[in-house]
Amino acid sequence: MTRPGIPVIFTQPPAICDPLDTETTDLQTSTREKCLPFLKGTHSSQSDHNEHGVPALKRDLHVAYLYDSLEDYPAGFVAMDASRPWMVYWGLAGFAMLGEDTSIFRDRVIATLRPMQNPSGGFGGGHGQTSHLAGSYAAVLSLAMVGGEEALGLVDRHAMWQWLSRVKQPDGGFRVCEGGEEDVRGAYCAMTIISLLDLPLTLADGEAREAGLETLTNGLPQYLSRCQTFEGGISGSPGSEAHGAYAFCALACLAIMGPPEDVFPRHMDISMLVSWLSARQSAPEGGLSGRTNKLVDGCYSHWVGGCWPLLESSLDGKPGSTEPPVNSLFSREGLTRYILACCQGNDGGLRDKPGKHVDSYHTCYVLAGLSAAQHHHYRTDSSTVSEGFSSAFSWKSSPSHAEDSVFSEGDRLAPLHPLYLIPHKDAEKMRRWSEDHPLA
Ligand code: FPP
Ligand code: ZN
Repeated sequence: MTRPGIPVIFTQPPAICDPLDTETTDLQTSTREKCLPFLKGTHSSQSDHNEHGVPALKRDLHVAYLYDSLEDYPAGFVAMDASRPWMVYWGLAGFAMLGEDTSIFRDRVIATLRPMQNPSGGFGGGHGQTSHLAGSYAAVLSLAMVGGEEALGLVDRHAMWQWLSRVKQPDGGFRVCEGGEEDVRGAYCAMTIISLLDLPLTLADGEAREAGLETLTNGLPQYLSRCQTFEGGISGSPGSEAHGAYAFCALACLAIMGPPEDVFPRHMDISMLVSWLSARQSAPEGGLSGRTNKLVDGCYSHWVGGCWPLLESSLDGKPGSTEPPVNSLFSREGLTRYILACCQGNDGGLRDKPGKHVDSYHTCYVLAGLSAAQHHHYRTDSSTVSEGFSSAFSWKSSPSHAEDSVFSEGDRLAPLHPLYLIPHKDAEKMRRWSEDHPLA
């Protein structure tokens, strides 16, 4: 039994299945079987289906879940002690998409993050921990989302610039911390921080400068280009396996540095990339996987789903073109169905897939994927910053047309900036505040 209004592609096994019995194909079959009752709208835990057979967004429960995620944790969560700025970021970004006011958390966020900043530059993942690009990225984005003079002025930008110069590498990339691994996460986090805080591009002392590089961006597009693999996807570092999380980091990093229509074709094989990204969407699940022969997971709704607006913008060409926009290189319907049917926890929060627990990481990135599927992101001629990174600050969004959508209008989320993953206005305010407070 299937609810009416659901196309058959989302309710039945695919026409062609791999006949070879392996651990991988078994896992895929059992994932599909777990998802099907949710996709067909027949699972006992579901309610409130619309005319397309899609369950409603449990907005109030997700808000309540995220409030809870910012309270005390039981002792077992000590494993998250190096991810404290992330927990703040996931909660705030989730609230922003759900339409909640994030500025009410200003004092708590400042008090939490201030002790994690190191005098030698950057933020650690917790108190007394060494500075890390991932924690610094999450801290800077959280400060942008709570806003206000004290939060925007909290980062020691001079020390941040010196620290970033020390983690910059002679091959163009960035280590995630001094002495740590070099990968495209580091590159994306670094360019996010540099562009939002309007840091000088000239390199201060460090390995890269000693090797003859002059700026924080020298060699970076070429480094990212070396991360595209034979499959067409993008890996964490040259020579590794292509993965969706790294694809987003690399594309967003390039799109911070220049207009996608210029930088993508210059540094990536676009048709191979489109082919690999397209293969990430599964039927009947509708959700996205992170790599070849792996399972759908709600968080790739952002890491892979978030690549599409960037590529679509690149294929649309210069802003103002009279050609109709490339608007759907993936099935927005499939992704929306997977998220609303398979990823919502009974009591709020979102998850990887049925059978998994909800957590604030998945809540944030599943919602980000839904928000991206519900909007059209495009660039305009006018940038909101006076100089440097102008294309990064020229993004706008409009709601996707309700008539092509399978979600109810009341379930539309707020859009996020497709490169910075915070509201557009918060990214612009942080950049403008930084321009108004130039480093001496
Ligand atoms: C594989 O996990 C996951 C990775 C190889 C990448 C994880 C990276 C991120 C989530 C991005 C971080 C981004 C920033 C900005 C710091 P798995 O083997 O458990 O999952 P899989 O089976 O789906 O590949
Ligand atoms: Zn996941």
